[in-house]
Amino acid sequence: MGKKLAAGNWKMNGTSADLAEVSALIAAHPAPACDILICPPATLLSRLSDTAQGSAVQTGGQDCHANASGAHTGDIAAAMLADAGASHVILGHSERRTDHNETDAEVAAKTLAAHGAGLIAVVCIGETEAQRDAGDTLAVIGAQLDGSLPQGCTAANTVIAYEPVWAIGTGRVPSLDQITEVHDFIRARLNDRFAGQDFSLLYGGSVKPDNAAQIFAVGNVDGALVGGASLKAADFSAIISALDAA
Ligand code: 13P
Repeated sequence: MGKKLAAGNWKMNGTSADLAEVSALIAAHPAPACDILICPPATLLSRLSDTAQGSAVQTGGQDCHANASGAHTGDIAAAMLADAGASHVILGHSERRTDHNETDAEVAAKTLAAHGAGLIAVVCIGETEAQRDAGDTLAVIGAQLDGSLPQGCTAANTVIAYEPVWAIGTGRVPSLDQITEVHDFIRARLNDRFAGQDFSLLYGGSVKPDNAAQIFAVGNVDGALVGGASLKAADFSAIISALDAA
């Protein structure tokens, strides 16, 4: 595992037909300098992992349960994701925090479960527009970091994704100064608690081929968590190339 990571979050998009996008992406990046991750819906994880076998593309889930097994209809355990070929799992995405009322404590419990199954947790944090307008961004980010990361997080088992909620799916991107401020803050906060661990810090929210290079030039940005632009091989490929060149 390197430090630079281009991660795609397909969210609730993708069926068998979209495996061809992954095959095209694999062909375009036989030996990337960065790590590449695609997190498809759970229904595609196993087949996508088979498609990506032996390639530079790694696969991940979009959520897991905090428990290892049991009576939790509709949920998926971390070990099941690993069994389906996943190396990573996205946890605490703002859409899950909103749609499923996930709390920082629940995200921390899921992160522990992911680590227990040998998965790398991609833990998401980010402020809403109202929180930013109120001047609370760094306080919100700090609290989410403290609450969502359990003891035992290392650079090898945890990636942090900063995704301002107002930038997700909107085409609105923070200024480079705003990204710098938050990523520097996250780096310092992590150094305080997890000394000596050089975590990968991803930016997410409307990353596209035409803005990726300037975002990747920001200090303490080690890659991206990409939604919409990860669905098409051509778009995601351009973002991967920008990270390779950064
Ligand atoms: P978009 O790239 O579509 O804005 O989504 C970002 C995101 O939420 C990735 O997890």
